[in-house]
Amino acid sequence: MSNLRLGDKAPNFQAATSEGPIDFYEYLGDSWGILFSHPADYTPVCTTELGTVAKYKDAFQKRNTKVLALSVDGTESHKGWIRDINETQNTEVNFPIIADEDRKVSDMYGMIHPNADDTLTVRSVFVIAPDKTIKLMITYPASTGRNFDELLRVIDSLQLTAYKKVATPANWKQGEEVVISPSVSNEEAKTLFPKGFKEVKPYLRLTPQP
Ligand code: BEZ
Repeated sequence: MSNLRLGDKAPNFQAATSEGPIDFYEYLGDSWGILFSHPADYTPVCTTELGTVAKYKDAFQKRNTKVLALSVDGTESHKGWIRDINETQNTEVNFPIIADEDRKVSDMYGMIHPNADDTLTVRSVFVIAPDKTIKLMITYPASTGRNFDELLRVIDSLQLTAYKKVATPANWKQGEEVVISPSVSNEEAKTLFPKGFKEVKPYLRLTPQP
């Protein structure tokens, strides 16, 4: 059972991984982090997901983001499966996969949803800020592979809105107009957003991405 919510501190843990033992906080350092679970090694959708994440190495690096995968399989299973991922997805897995055989981390993060499957993890995603607070939680079922472009998009939004008094509208992508936070007065907005802003309604003010 886990009651983790947005804004909570992501719990630290030590775990065995495909790249040796890690301490989660030490692994993250001052970076942003993505901790994501998949149901099982040697399964088709997971194979495409981990291959995709490996191919996005530069995109994650550009965003100062470290990724860490997890399933309840052991390290030897992970290592054998990584060879298959590299071969079939034409890539090199370049991040550790936690071997959570005792489900310590899965339970801590609520990655097992017993009414969906009582032994395997679902497809959970946690995005964690450098201060170790949880900024995003998404859960997908085993049947549906994740959209990692969407994850990059959310990280862009999280990183922008962490430092600027803006929020990002529906379907926003890097470089598009953003909305000014309701807490900012029009007077303050003139200083904060020198490119100007459009007041569609008093609560809906658009400005070029700062
Ligand atoms: C898959 O990754 O393909 C998968 C894993 C568990 C259940 C169903 C599909």
